[in-house]
Amino acid sequence: MVAVADIELAIGDITEQEVDVVVNAANSSLLGGGGVDGAIHRKGGPDVLGECQELRAGRYGSGLPTGQAVATTAGRLPARWVVHTVGPVWSGSEDRSELLADCHRNALAVAAELGARSIAFPAISTGVYRWPLPDAARIAVATVRGCDTSGFDVVRFVLFDRAAHAAFESALRTER
Ligand code: APR
Repeated sequence: MVAVADIELAIGDITEQEVDVVVNAANSSLLGGGGVDGAIHRKGGPDVLGECQELRAGRYGSGLPTGQAVATTAGRLPARWVVHTVGPVWSGSEDRSELLADCHRNALAVAAELGARSIAFPAISTGVYRWPLPDAARIAVATVRGCDTSGFDVVRFVLFDRAAHAAFESALRTER
């Protein structure tokens, strides 16, 4: 059995989370977008984008690959860092589940390397990237439960509406 922190659920705006790490549902450009990405850049301010641009000028010249994760400052957010990860776009013909799982594994690993004790995830890939909520919740919960999160005091999914919250509640109950 892997040592795990209990997973918490909350409904709200992830940019307001008072945690060490907020996970961003980014795209590979790292240069912003809508949804979570737009909210984090809008409220985090220019320092977040500045560090993303540095990453694009250096190690991630061709963009952040799907499933990978990288940290920047959280700028004006209450959090200390943003860990940007790129979720897979839903496909009815190709099983991209492992890439969605990688987002969670890699975001946790990057956060642990930073010494973070608390982390908040959005429902990655379930907005613009159209991944069905029940399946995304199942993958997210099962993946996080399979990781060693003993170094964290808080592992939280922050959902934007009741439907998403219900999907994650159901996944928590069934993914034992
Ligand atoms: N706080 C918490 N959850 C939010 C917020 C917010 N401020 N805004 C949106 N969400 C929810 C959405 O309702 C959805 O359930 O986050 C989930 C993920 O939706 P998106 O942000 O659209 O992310 P994703 O589906 O992974 O698509 C990523 O969208 O915004 C662009 O630049 C981003 O190209 C990338 C793509």
